[in-house]
Amino acid sequence: MNNDLYAVVGNPISHSKSPRIHSLFAAQTGEAVEYTAIQAPLEEFAETVREFFAKGGKGLNVTVPFKEQAWSLADRRSERAEKAGAANTLYQDEQGRLVADNTDGVGLVTDLKVNAGVSLSGGRVLVLGAGGAVRGVLGPLLAENPGELVVANRTVIKADGLVSLFRPQAVATELSACGFEAATDPFDVIINGTSASLQGDLPPVPAGVISPETVVYDMMYAAGDTPFNAWARGQGAGKVLDGLGMLVEQAAESFRVWRGVKPETAPVIEELRNH
Ligand code: ATR
Repeated sequence: MNNDLYAVVGNPISHSKSPRIHSLFAAQTGEAVEYTAIQAPLEEFAETVREFFAKGGKGLNVTVPFKEQAWSLADRRSERAEKAGAANTLYQDEQGRLVADNTDGVGLVTDLKVNAGVSLSGGRVLVLGAGGAVRGVLGPLLAENPGELVVANRTVIKADGLVSLFRPQAVATELSACGFEAATDPFDVIINGTSASLQGDLPPVPAGVISPETVVYDMMYAAGDTPFNAWARGQGAGKVLDGLGMLVEQAAESFRVWRGVKPETAPVIEELRNH
C-alpha cells in the first residue's frame, strides 16, 4: 500500500522541522504517512496547493508567509481558523472542498498548560506582537480565561485591529509601554510573538513587566536561548520557555485532524531537543 502524502508549504522552507516531526509521529503511530516540504514561489501559493491536492495529496501544513492566503483560499473553515483569520492546516472533505484549520493556538496552550504546567486562568498575560503568529493564538489564549490579556505592538494600530475582535477581554497597547503608565504589577505570563529575533533585535519592553514569578514564552525556538529569552533570564524571569513544544503540539493536532490519531508529543520534543 502506498503512503498517504502530506507536506508543509512555505517560503523559505528548508529549515522546517515539520517533516522530521511528522516522520517521528508516523513511526510512533504506525500510520502510513509520507511528509515532505514544498517551497512555493511567493506568487504561486494557490497553484501549489491545487497541484498538491490534484496529485492526490491528503493534507498540507502552511507556514510563513502563506497562512492568511491559506485561510482565504479555503472553501470551509473550522471555527478556530475562522476566528484566527489565518490557517496552518489544509485538507479536503469528502466532497473535495478545501478545508482550513488552525492548530497554532491549541499548540501554544497545550505546551504551556500540559507540558510546562503553567495556568493562564485568572492571570495577567502579556502578548508581544500583532502579526500572523499572534493572530492564530489569541482566541485559544482567551479561552483559558486569563484575568487580563494585553497585546503590545510596535505599531499600535495593528494591535488595536487585532483585539477589536476580542474586546473587552483583550486590550491593545504600545510595545515600549506594555500598558504601563506608572509602576504596575509585573505580568504572570509573557508571550513573545514578534519576529524581532529574526533581525537580531529585542522587542523594546520595559523591564518592570518581569518578576521572579513571571513565565516567559518565546514562540520562536533556537538551539540556545532566543535573544528575548536570554534578556528575560537576565531580568530574573522565573521560567523561560521556547516555542519547540508549541511546534510539536501544533503538528500533533494537525496529525490528529488528518488521521484521527493523536501522537504522543513528549518523546518527539525530547528527540528534537537533544538531536
Ligand atoms: P508573523 O507572521 O511572524 O507574526 P508579521 O505578520 O510580519 O510576522 O508580524 C511580525 C510582528 O513582529 C509584528 O507584530 C511586528 O511589529 P509591527 O507590527 O510594528 O511591524 C513585530 N516586529 C518585527 N520586528 C520587530 C522589532 N524589531 N521590534 C519590535 N517588534 C517587531
